[in-house]
Amino acid sequence: MALQKINPEQISGNPFEAIGKQWFLLTAGSAESGWNCMTCSWGALGVLWNKPSVTCYVRHSRHTFGFMEQQDMFTLSFLGSDCRKALSFCGSHSGRDCDKAAEAGLHPVETDGGITFDEAELVLVCKKRYAADMNIADLPADAAAAFYADNDTHRLYIGEIVACYQKAE
Ligand SMILES: Cc1cc2nc3c(=O)[nH]c(=O)nc-3n(C[C@H](O)[C@H](O)[C@H](O)COP(=O)(O)O)c2cc1C
Repeated sequence: MALQKINPEQISGNPFEAIGKQWFLLTAGSAESGWNCMTCSWGALGVLWNKPSVTCYVRHSRHTFGFMEQQDMFTLSFLGSDCRKALSFCGSHSGRDCDKAAEAGLHPVETDGGITFDEAELVLVCKKRYAADMNIADLPADAAAAFYADNDTHRLYIGEIVACYQKAE
């Protein structure tokens, strides 16, 4: 991973573009205890409790969900544009059924107690600080109808960014 360690304030790029259009890999767990990754296009970067933080949203049905629940470390890895197929694969196959990273041609690397990938151009290493289920009954009716008709709710996770790496421009 030939990336530079930076402060979160130095992250370059537009979060709407990076998260919503480019997507990222959420990887929960560690080399010692096991890990799993999945593609995400929902999330947020910002500040909470005076700490640089991320929020991401994981449905209960995901294999990644168990890793998010059981372990404290997770990473957000933003890959290069040549990795679109790998991201599509990791967003349409479950780690329950295959070795996703290997089949997608991604190369895992350990960092700061978490897992990222050689292919990453921006990595946010996070420590879980808070988790809460979305209560479907409290959601706007249009969101509940569009996204939760099957009751497969999202759990939101807030993580403190404990390390941050970005490819030099
Ligand atoms: C572009 C894209 C964005 C996605 N965003 C999310 C997300 O934010 N949260 C979520 O729970 N699932 C999201 N998914 C679905 C998971 O990535 C997908 O169900 C994956 O296969 C789960 O893998 P797992 O069972 O190994 O955890 C997204 C899928 C794609 C293709």
